[in-house]
Amino acid sequence: MSRKFTLSVLAAGLLAATSAQAYQAGDIIIRAGAVAVDPQESSGSVLADGADLGGWEVGLDSNRQLGLAGTYMVTSHIGVGLLAATPFKHNISAAGAIAGAGKLGETKHLPPTLTLQYYPMGSASRFQPYAGLGVNYTIFFEEATTDTLNGALGVDSTTLDLDDSVGIAAEFGFDYALSEEFGFNAAIWWADIDTEGTIRTQASGAPGPVGTVDVEIDPLVYMVGFTYRF
Ligand code: NI
Repeated sequence: MSRKFTLSVLAAGLLAATSAQAYQAGDIIIRAGAVAVDPQESSGSVLADGADLGGWEVGLDSNRQLGLAGTYMVTSHIGVGLLAATPFKHNISAAGAIAGAGKLGETKHLPPTLTLQYYPMGSASRFQPYAGLGVNYTIFFEEATTDTLNGALGVDSTTLDLDDSVGIAAEFGFDYALSEEFGFNAAIWWADIDTEGTIRTQASGAPGPVGTVDVEIDPLVYMVGFTYRF
């Protein structure tokens, strides 16, 4: 075997080995793992029929679910990513002037997030960091209120409705390939999620004051898990 032939075989082998790790157009990368939504909320004052109750605010706790994220590679550098998860559930607690009063309600939500992603390491890299920018659509459902809220408002019963939210989302993450198919992933998203809550009240069988509150939820979303590439 000539030295030249040996070298070219070696070069071809290296190229095959390295291109096997690189992302290319048409690849589908599925990421599954634990995902946590950590609201960085900022609450407006609760208004009753438009009047400030005196600095009543609300807070949200964080929640962890099963996350599924996928990317379709349009080129070796550009992908389209979608984040999905099992429904998140957050407790809504008293804050501001009524901090410490306890749990006022709860809600579930789904925050599907679509991003355009950039992968700078186009060539031979097991390590594939990426950054993405896109849009988040958050659907709130199964909102519920507590007797604590009813008592604070002095009414018999309440219902809560949270508006859906559309906003910008940004993400950073990385994949690390263990083999052609399997690897690790870690990612963080920030999403602009703003909602208006409407609290309808009933007292002595008649509708009472209608409460409203604007809340900026703007959560950080963390995910760690495994990747599988098709
Ligand atoms: Ni916001």
